[in-house]
Amino acid sequence: MPDAVSREVPDDPESLLGRLRRGRGDAVRELLQQPADVAADTLVACLCTPADLAPHVRGYAELVLSVQPDLRPWFEWIERLGPDADDATLVYVFNLLGELAQRGHLAADAFLRRYLLHGLHWQSALGQFLSPQLQLDAAAWRTILPRVGDDDLRLHMADRQESAPWEELAATEPRVRRMLDLLRSERDPQRDVHAWSRENYAHAPSSQRRWKVLESLWRADPQAAAPLLFDGLWDATPAYRERCVERCDLSWPGVRARLEGLAAEPGSRVAELARRRLAASPAAATGACPTTTIERLPHPPTERDIADLAALLADAVADGAAVSFLQPLAVDEAAAWWRQTLTNRGNVVLVARANGRIVGSVQLHPAWAPNQPHRGDVAKLLVHREHRRAGLGAQLMRAIEAEARTAGRWLLVLDCRAGGPAERLYERLGWVRVGAIPDYAIDADRKARHATVVFYRDLRRDGGTHGG
Ligand SMILES: CC(C)(COP(=O)(O)OP(=O)(O)OC[C@H]1O[C@@H](n2cnc3c(N)ncnc32)[C@H](O)[C@@H]1OP(=O)(O)O)[C@@H](O)C(=O)NCCC(=O)NCCS
Repeated sequence: MPDAVSREVPDDPESLLGRLRRGRGDAVRELLQQPADVAADTLVACLCTPADLAPHVRGYAELVLSVQPDLRPWFEWIERLGPDADDATLVYVFNLLGELAQRGHLAADAFLRRYLLHGLHWQSALGQFLSPQLQLDAAAWRTILPRVGDDDLRLHMADRQESAPWEELAATEPRVRRMLDLLRSERDPQRDVHAWSRENYAHAPSSQRRWKVLESLWRADPQAAAPLLFDGLWDATPAYRERCVERCDLSWPGVRARLEGLAAEPGSRVAELARRRLAASPAAATGACPTTTIERLPHPPTERDIADLAALLADAVADGAAVSFLQPLAVDEAAAWWRQTLTNRGNVVLVARANGRIVGSVQLHPAWAPNQPHRGDVAKLLVHREHRRAGLGAQLMRAIEAEARTAGRWLLVLDCRAGGPAERLYERLGWVRVGAIPDYAIDADRKARHATVVFYRDLRRDGGTHGG
């Protein structure tokens, strides 16, 4: 067991560990600058925390993948979680294991599967296998089946009728056969995914399981998930309530008032999250400026459009954005780059105009490779500083996703500077984070290098429409 785990850690909220437990960016940055063994020990010590770290699961997963610590002390700690382990700890632990397993972390995947077969909180582990990326084979199902109740079995079988080994199991397990027949008889080719989700939601035996159902509905259709997210704002489980606060749609009637109520609760994390959501979307500001339109850039572009695009790029570079160029970027140089880029007619270039002038842009570059006819790269999302934080970036992204879908390019890839505003935007819009590459590029002001984060989006899977 590493020192940092076995050592009594002082409960100092401003220590690296204390800040890391709260998911603070400065702590993550500091951690990544530590020698590899220290970073690994500190991260594992952080993970071995009986607390609600659920809001940081994705960030921790990335840290684990980049620091690559030996997770065995964490696994041992999980094995020791007794019957009195609270729901928040279980949600964090098993969601992180699930997240790591989904991202190909072999040790986490193996532990999760082992734990499912013999662990005390095996039901929490089972919840992870509702994710489409994680599969249980027939042998594992056979082992756990005697312990799995009808509601749970129904939930798993209804969710994955095509891919899981139900037919194979049904040959020897009469209960599976009956359930399979029942589900098939209920099946309607025009299946109402929403009614189905609601039913599974109602049957879910724990808040963790309920969340999985809600999350998959949210990915498929955020509008349909809105009423469930709304209910979740009153949920008795704090971790669940927090996730609903993070994702609820503020334009829904009653949501704002509920968030204001939550924000007034002193000292809780849910209050902090509610305040953040309210601050990011003040009541008066609803979406982008009404005179803003998004359209394809006409070809050939006018000189005024080239001048606007050059000013847009120069503005981003002057602001320190990581968009290929270093400061200072002269407008002429930026204009020359645009002229060159726009000669490639295969690319789709969208522009946002406010009162006719270009204030934002984004591009789709269809992959040239003959073996990737379904893939495209999204590049150079830019919004002029004067028009930021009004939803324009999100609108441009939705519009380029719609272009990609129309063009049959359903697998999209992009990258952005780690820790920048774009990273948060892509996460908020539901893009899937692949990982970070350290020292990828030089900062625009040439003072240091920064990591880049790679994201992808499968438009077949989620329709690419959701976002806050
Ligand atoms: C990244 C970038 C395109 C985002 O553009 P944007 O128009 O500000 O994006 P949005 O308005 O959709 O979202 C940004 C923030 O504004 C908030 N916002 C959206 N609408 C809002 C409103 N009406 N009122 C207040 N805030 C609002 C969002 O919640 C979001 O905040 P969050 O990050 O805390 O979640 C812009 O910052 C930019 O051009 N950066 C420089 C270039 C760059 O880095 N590009 C990425 C290259 S990969």
